[in-house]
Amino acid sequence: MKSQNMRDDILKVLITKEELAQKVKELGQEITKAYQGKKLLVLGVLKGSFVFMSDLIREIDTPCEVEFMAVSSYQSGVKSSGVVKILKDIDINPNAYNILIVEDILDSGLTLSYLKNLLLQRGASNIQIATLLDKPARRKADIHADFVGFEVPDEFVVGYGLDYAEYYRNLPYVGVLKPEVYSE
Ligand code: IMP
Ligand code: MG
Repeated sequence: MKSQNMRDDILKVLITKEELAQKVKELGQEITKAYQGKKLLVLGVLKGSFVFMSDLIREIDTPCEVEFMAVSSYQSGVKSSGVVKILKDIDINPNAYNILIVEDILDSGLTLSYLKNLLLQRGASNIQIATLLDKPARRKADIHADFVGFEVPDEFVVGYGLDYAEYYRNLPYVGVLKPEVYSE
């Protein structure tokens, strides 16, 4: 059960607001270097990436366009179903861009591997992945991120865009959710 005060549902803070800001700045610098002089499309995967993405693009100091796709692989729970549904699509020619997919967390990898293959099928030739968090312990798909913020342990995390059942996205830090919140 969820508390009235969302902070009471957090077992521990994993990554502070300050650590997030510092890392996002570093990632922005790396991405700026990698895409200098290239036609860049930053493609956010909704909804989880929107906080990270909005901070990240302001640390990218080279021209870019911004798009979003919405996919769902979770039925608002904590386990991946492996089924990816496209809820919001883009209608641009992916081959005209160097695409940087921005994700909140790479967990099983099923969502990103589906999305990457879809864009490749549509003719994209240059796709890289930036993820704020990487949970390698749970990887099922053969996929890796080119830009990674933090590796996290196999625990369910929320905040800074990441949700549990649509809540906690507005926490300014990344924290581990108390298991009793989702195991009723
Ligand atoms: P994947 O397909 O298993 O890699 O799952 C990716 C998506 O699952 C992410 O974009 C998140 O929305 C969600 N997800 C996976 N692990 C967590 C977590 O620890 N907290 C919140 N959301 C998660
Ligand atoms: Mg989610």
